[in-house]
Amino acid sequence: MSDLLVINQLSAAYGQAIALEDVQLRVQPGELVALLGPNGAGKSTLLKVISRALPARGTLQFQNQSLHDFSTEQVVGLGICHCPEGRRLFPELTVLKNLQLGAYLRNNRQQIVQDLEKVYALFPILRERSDQIVSTLSGGPQQMVAISRALMGAPKLLLLDEPSVGIAHRLKMEIFTAIRRICDDGVAILVAEQDAQSALQIADRAYVLEHGTVAQEGTAASLQEDDRIRKIYLGVA
Ligand SMILES: Nc1ncnc2c1ncn2[C@@H]1O[C@H](COP(=O)(O)OP(=O)(O)OP(=O)(O)O)[C@@H](O)[C@H]1O
Ligand SMILES: [Mg+2]
Repeated sequence: MSDLLVINQLSAAYGQAIALEDVQLRVQPGELVALLGPNGAGKSTLLKVISRALPARGTLQFQNQSLHDFSTEQVVGLGICHCPEGRRLFPELTVLKNLQLGAYLRNNRQQIVQDLEKVYALFPILRERSDQIVSTLSGGPQQMVAISRALMGAPKLLLLDEPSVGIAHRLKMEIFTAIRRICDDGVAILVAEQDAQSALQIADRAYVLEHGTVAQEGTAASLQEDDRIRKIYLGVA
């Protein structure tokens, strides 16, 4: 199967400060890939580079097409939707309005309505709260809105940045289960996550970023068995 996303020898910097160096990563259609690593490793930076929010050097291809000449808006049109760190919702707007804004580049109204139904099936609480102002929701439901807003862009590749951060355990499990369902429904996913244990439970494969470069990669099963991963990221002796 040909790769959906191909990254080779990729580097990026904030001014003089190098944040990514010689990164190689691939995502195949329908795959759920986790991006693990400690604080400051470069996970968010890599997602920002893919969604063209930050310039980079090296190979960055989506469906065999270089993304370097595309704007952030154009990559959404290609089918790359980014649910960023910190969610970046419109806090004073309703849940429904936030979801509709996720579809702002699309014009097939029937398809948009169908996708809204899919999102409500995935997170039933969002249907109940569709008229509620987002800032009055707690963290878990806000994260569900953020993921769903990205889904409303009809992604082929969904980029999720730390979907579980600051969320109560029960809701966290619900969110991870939903992420797996989204993937099983045919959307490839690249998810940056500090909670390696939960991420490896749902992922097909994972990359471990350390100091801006890929330190390890493999199937989720092989990384769960790996001594170094177990010690550093899974807290198992
Ligand atoms: N806007 C910015 N300006 C300057 N440096 C930045 C900026 N954003 C991130 N960095 C630096 O780039 C490096 C990678 O940061 P990044 O946010 O990608 O890490 P991360 O793996 O997402 O970490 P976390 O788990 O804390 O979210 C860090 O050294 C960070 O300090
Ligand atoms: Mg981050």
